[in-house]
Amino acid sequence: MSEATIESVSHEHRVFPPTEEFSKRALIGTREEYEALYRRSIEDPEGFWAEQAQALHWFTPPQKTVEWKAPFSKWFVGGTTNLAYNCLDRHLDGPHRNKAAIIWEGEPGDIRVLTYFQLWREVCRFANALTDLGIEAGDRVGIYMGMVPEAAIAMLACARIGAVHSVVFGGFASDAVRDRMIDAEAKAVITQDGTYRRGSVVPLKEQVDKAVDQCPNVEHVVVLRRTGNEITMKEGRDHDWAALMETASPKHEAPALDAEHPLFILYTSGSTGKPKGVMHTTGGYMVGTYLTSKYVFDLQEDDTYWCTADVGWITGHSYIVYGPLANAATAVMYEGAPNSPDPGRFWSIVERHGVTIFYTAPTAVRAFVKWGDDWITKHDLSSLRLLGTVGEPINPEVWVWYRETVGGGRCPIVDTYWQTETGSIVMTPLPGAVPAKPGSCSVPFFGISAKVLREDGSEAAPNEGGLLVIDKPWPSMLRTVWGDDERFREQYFSRFDGIYFTGDGARRDEDGFFWVVGRIDDVVNVSGHRLGTAEIESSLVAHDDVAEAAVVGIPDELTGQALVAFVTLKGDREPSPELNQALMDHVAGDIGKFARPKRIRFADAVPKTRSGKIMRRLLRDLAAGKQAHGDMTTLEDISVLATLQEHQEE
Ligand code: WT7
Repeated sequence: MSEATIESVSHEHRVFPPTEEFSKRALIGTREEYEALYRRSIEDPEGFWAEQAQALHWFTPPQKTVEWKAPFSKWFVGGTTNLAYNCLDRHLDGPHRNKAAIIWEGEPGDIRVLTYFQLWREVCRFANALTDLGIEAGDRVGIYMGMVPEAAIAMLACARIGAVHSVVFGGFASDAVRDRMIDAEAKAVITQDGTYRRGSVVPLKEQVDKAVDQCPNVEHVVVLRRTGNEITMKEGRDHDWAALMETASPKHEAPALDAEHPLFILYTSGSTGKPKGVMHTTGGYMVGTYLTSKYVFDLQEDDTYWCTADVGWITGHSYIVYGPLANAATAVMYEGAPNSPDPGRFWSIVERHGVTIFYTAPTAVRAFVKWGDDWITKHDLSSLRLLGTVGEPINPEVWVWYRETVGGGRCPIVDTYWQTETGSIVMTPLPGAVPAKPGSCSVPFFGISAKVLREDGSEAAPNEGGLLVIDKPWPSMLRTVWGDDERFREQYFSRFDGIYFTGDGARRDEDGFFWVVGRIDDVVNVSGHRLGTAEIESSLVAHDDVAEAAVVGIPDELTGQALVAFVTLKGDREPSPELNQALMDHVAGDIGKFARPKRIRFADAVPKTRSGKIMRRLLRDLAAGKQAHGDMTTLEDISVLATLQEHQEE
C-alpha cells in the first residue's frame, strides 16, 4: 500500500433494490438498460451526446460534439441555442402551456402558481426591461435575492438575452456581494427590499447599497418589493422592478446564442480568500442538467418535484430552475426556513402540494432526525415516491432513517454526488434501475468516466481508497475560473496532468459503487492509517444518542495525529462521562482501536458553511487548543464557533 492510500474502514453492506412498482413505471427500469446506455456513452461519447442534445431546440444544429484540449473543452461546437427558450417557449405549443412551472410558497404562507405561459411572459418582460436598461449579451448581472419566483425570472431573463448572471446567496453579507460583483465586473445588480427568514425580514437592499458603493462597474440596481421594509432608492441608479415591468413589452424573441456563450458565473469559496468564479456555458450545461433531471429524478408528467436548495447554490441553478424547467416539470419553491413556524413546515408543504419527489441535503436530514419523528408522522406524506440527497456523504444510519421515516420504506433514495464545477450530477443510482447502498453515491451517470487513482496516477484496486477523478470531459463541466485560466488549470488539472481532480477521496467497491470518504484536505493520519472523516463520523452517528458528528485530527507525539470528535446529541440526550466512554468504545469496536477518538467534545452545534457543510478546518484549530483562524465569511452562524471557543477549557 502506498503511503498516500486512504484506508476505508466502513463495513456497510446493506443493499436496497428499487421496488418492482417503482421500476415498472421508471424511465429506466433495469440495471441492464443502465449498463447498456452507460457503456454506449463511454465508448461513443460524441454519438451519445449528439443524440441526447437533439431532445432540445437548436437554432443551428451543432457541427461537432466536443473539442477537447485539456483542460479546455467546447461542446456542441457551431450550434446555437437559447436556454430560456428551451425552458419556456419550447413548452408553449402543447399541453404544457398551462401546466404549473413553479408552485411557490412564501414563508408567511402566501402561495403563487406560475404556469409555463405565465412564467414565459414574465421572463420576456423582464428580458425587455434589462435590455431597456442597456444590458447586452455578455454583460454580467448580479442577482442577490431571496427564494422568490422573481429570482428564477431574473436568471431566465439573463439567460434569454445572453447576459451572464452571477447569483450571490442571500445569506451572504455586503462584503461577499462586493467582492463577487467586483471580480465579475457586474454592470447591474438585481435584488429585493428584503426576504423573510424565520419570521423576520433580512434586509437585502441595504446590503447591496453598502456593496455597490464600492463597485465602480455597477450602473443599475433593480429592486423587487417583497417585504415592504424601508429602503432608500438612489436616483438614476436604482429602479423599481414593478415600474420597469409595467412599461416593458411582453414580446421578446429569444436570440440564437452560441453553444459556448457564457451562461453564468457562480462563486465558490476558494481557500485563498479570493472568490473563485466557476464559469458555465450554455449548450453543454443545458444538455447536462436536462438529461440528469430527467433520469435521476425519473421525471414523469404528473410529478410535483421539490428541491429544497437555495438558488444561490449550484443545486438551485441546476435542479430548481434550469433542469426541471427544460423538462417541463412542475417545481416547488419555498422561501423560508425549514422550522418556521415549526419543524413540521417541510412536511406540511409536501402534504399541501402533493410533492412526489423531494431532494434535500444530509445536513437537513440530520436536523429532521434531531427534531424528532413526530413532526413528520403527523403529516400525510403518501404522495412521495422518490427522495434525494446532495452535498455531503450521508451517514448510512441517517439514510436508513430517511428511507423509513420520510419515505415510508417505499421510496428509493438517490444520493447524488456532484459539485459546483461539474454543473450537473455525475454519480448517483438511477432510482428504478440501480440498487442503493446507504452512504454510497453509487455509479457514474452517463458519459462520466469516474476513477479512483493512487497518488502515482495508477488506478486503485477495489475498496482501496484514493483520489476521485473524472478523466474525460463532459458537457456540463466548468469551462474556466472567471478571468483566471491559470487558476483553473492549477486547481483542477495539475494533480494529474489533463485529468479533472475533484478534491475528494473515495473508494470503489467490488460492485463498482463509489463511496466518497471526504475532502482530501480533511484526511487524518493516525498511526499510519490515513482515514477519511466521513466513515468515522458515520460510526458515531450510528450510535443511538448521536445526531451529528465532526471528526478532525490534532498533532500527536505518539500516533502522528489523533482524532478529536465533536458530537451533537439527539434532542433529549445529555452528555455524561459514561456516554463519552461509550462513544469511544463504540468507534473502537466498530472500526478498530486505532480509530478510537482521543477526545470527544459534546457541542450543541458544529460550525457549518451556509450551504450546510461542516467546517472541519475551523474545528481543527479548536481541537488543537487554538483560536479558529482563516476565512470565516462562509460560516453560517458565528455564534456556534464562539460558543465552542468559550468552552475550550472545559
Ligand atoms: C462537494 C461539492 C453539488 C451540489 C452541492 C454541493 C461534496 C456533494 C455529495 C455526495 C458525498 C458529496 C463533495 C463535493 N458532495 N455531494 N452525494 N456524497 N459528497 O456543491 O458546494 O460545489 O460541493 O460536496 O465533497 O466535492 P459544492
